[in-house]
Amino acid sequence: MARLLQSKFVLCALFALLLFFNNANAQAINGSDTAYKHGMVVCAYPDAAKVGVEILKKGGNAVDAAVAVQFALEVTFPEAGNIGGGGFMVYRSAKGKTNTLDFREKAPAAAFEKMFQDSAGNVIPGKSLSTHLASGVPGSVDGMFKAHRKYGKLKWAELVQPAIDLARNGFKITKRMAGDLNSAANEFRKLNPDKNYLGKTDKWQEGDLLVQEDLAKTLELIRDKGRAGFYDGKVADEIVAEMQSGGGMISKEDLANYHSAWRKALTGNYKGYKVITMPPPSSGGIALLQLLQSVEKYPLHRWGYNSDSTVQLVVEAERRVYADRSKYLGDPDFFKVPKDTLLNPQYNASRMSSFTWAQATPSASISPGKIAGYESDQTTHYSIVDGDGNAVSITTTLNGGFGSKIFVKGAGFLLNNEMDDFSSKPGSPNMFGLVGGKANSIQPNKRMLSSMTPTIIEKNGKLYMVVGTPGGATIITSVFQTILNVLEFDQNMQHAVASKRFHHQWLPDKVFVERGALDDATRAKLEQKGYKIVDGGPSGRVDAILVTPAGYEGGADPRGDDTKEGF
Ligand code: GLY
Repeated sequence: MARLLQSKFVLCALFALLLFFNNANAQAINGSDTAYKHGMVVCAYPDAAKVGVEILKKGGNAVDAAVAVQFALEVTFPEAGNIGGGGFMVYRSAKGKTNTLDFREKAPAAAFEKMFQDSAGNVIPGKSLSTHLASGVPGSVDGMFKAHRKYGKLKWAELVQPAIDLARNGFKITKRMAGDLNSAANEFRKLNPDKNYLGKTDKWQEGDLLVQEDLAKTLELIRDKGRAGFYDGKVADEIVAEMQSGGGMISKEDLANYHSAWRKALTGNYKGYKVITMPPPSSGGIALLQLLQSVEKYPLHRWGYNSDSTVQLVVEAERRVYADRSKYLGDPDFFKVPKDTLLNPQYNASRMSSFTWAQATPSASISPGKIAGYESDQTTHYSIVDGDGNAVSITTTLNGGFGSKIFVKGAGFLLNNEMDDFSSKPGSPNMFGLVGGKANSIQPNKRMLSSMTPTIIEKNGKLYMVVGTPGGATIITSVFQTILNVLEFDQNMQHAVASKRFHHQWLPDKVFVERGALDDATRAKLEQKGYKIVDGGPSGRVDAILVTPAGYEGGADPRGDDTKEGF
C-alpha cells in the first residue's frame, strides 16, 4: 500500500512538474498581459530598462528616458549599446506630431569607393569589419544631445549620470552576457593587446561584476560638456590617436563636422493603420511599407500565422523588396532614392504580378524593378512610451557584435564597424549577405545604408504600437512579421515578439527559418514548390509596446536578456 501511495505521489509530482513547465513555456510564448498606465521601457538589458523607468518616474518624458537608456546600454550591453556607433529615432508626441532623427555614422572625409578592395579589385576579407578603417564617424552622442535639446524635459546631466554610476560601480552580468564576452575574448585580446576593457584573466561567469572606470570618465565629460565632451577635447583626441595607431581615417575635423539630421518621418497605411517609420539612409522604412503594400490585399487573417499560404506570400514579397533595396536605396544626401515609385501601391502590385501559387519564383528571375532614370548580429532596439503618450522607437548599432571589437584607448568604449554596411564593391555581399551598388557605394561623408526599422503605428489616430529590432538584414522582415502577428493574427505583444520568424532577402535564394517556425507539413508543401528552406539561428530581438484599453503592454524578446519595465 505504502509503495502504491509512493508511486502515486511520484506520478502526481511528475504531473505537477509537467504542468509547471507547460505553463512556463506558455508564459514565454504568450507572455503576461500586465498593462501599465504611466510609462514603459522595453530594451535589451535589465539594468538599462530600470534606468529608463526611473527617469520616467522622476517626471522625465519618453525622450529623456531614451537618452538615459542609450547611455546605460553603452555600459551594460557593449555588444551593441554604444557611444561609438549610431542609429535612428522615430518619435511621435502625445498630440500626434511625428519626427525622426538620423544619427547614423558617416564615412570619414578621407574615405573612397575602393578602400576595401585590393589592386586586382577584389574585396579584402575582414578589412571593413575588424580594422580601424571599419569605423564610420560615430553619431550617437550628437543624436542624443540633439534629441534632448528639442524634446527633453529633465536636465542632461541627470540623464547621463545613471550610466556613469553603472560604469563606475559595476553591474552584475547575466549568463548570456558572460557567454558573449567569453566568445569575443580572443578577438578582444588580439585587437587590443594594451587596452582590453572587457577582458578577464579567467572566464566570465554569470553574476560577475563588470566595472568600466575609463568609460565612466568619458561619460562624465559627456555629462558635463554635452556634445563637446565627445567630439572635441580629450575624447576626440583619444579617438584620433586610436585611429592613427591602427591606420584608421577618422580625423578631428570628421568629429567636429559630424551632425545628426532631422528627417521627415515616412508614413504609410495598412488596412487603416498608419505606419510611421524611418526614411533613408535606412532602407528599413521604405522596405517595410513596400512589404505591407505587397501583402495588403490578401486574407492573411484567414490563412493564419505561418500557414503555407502566409509563408509563401510573405517570402515572395520579401524577395522582390530586397531586390529593390540592392539597387535603389542609399544615403538621400548623395543618391536620389526613387521613394515615390517604391511606395506607389501600383508599383508594388506590379512587382507581385510574377508571383504564382504553383511554385517558388527563383531569385535569379527577379531583378530590381525598372524605374526610369535608374537603369544602368548586432544592433539593439528600445521602445519607450511615457505617461502622457509620447513615444520613442530607437534602433542603434555598432554593426557587428561589439562592433570592430577595437576599443578607444583611454576612453574605454568600442568603435563601430559600420563601413561594412556600404557596398564595398557592386554585387559583393556584406557580412549580412546583402548586396548593393552605386546607390550605396562609399563616398566621403556619406552615410552607409541601414536596415534598421524603428517604427510606430497609429490606430484610429491614436498611438497603437512602438516596435523595432536588431538583426542586420533580418531587421526588416522581423519588424514586418511582428506587425502582422498583431494586426492579422491577433497575437498580444509578448506573443507577437516571441513567435518564430522566417526570412528571405532575395539573395541568397533561401528561406531562413527559426527552429519551430514551420510545422513539418507546411515545410514539406513549400519544399515541393521549390522553396529552399534552411534552419537559421534566432532572427532579431524585437522589443515593442502595444497600447491596449488596459494600458501599455510590452513585448520583450525572449531570444535575449530583453526586459520590459513599466509602472
Ligand atoms: N548595421 C546594421 C544596419 O544598420 O542595418
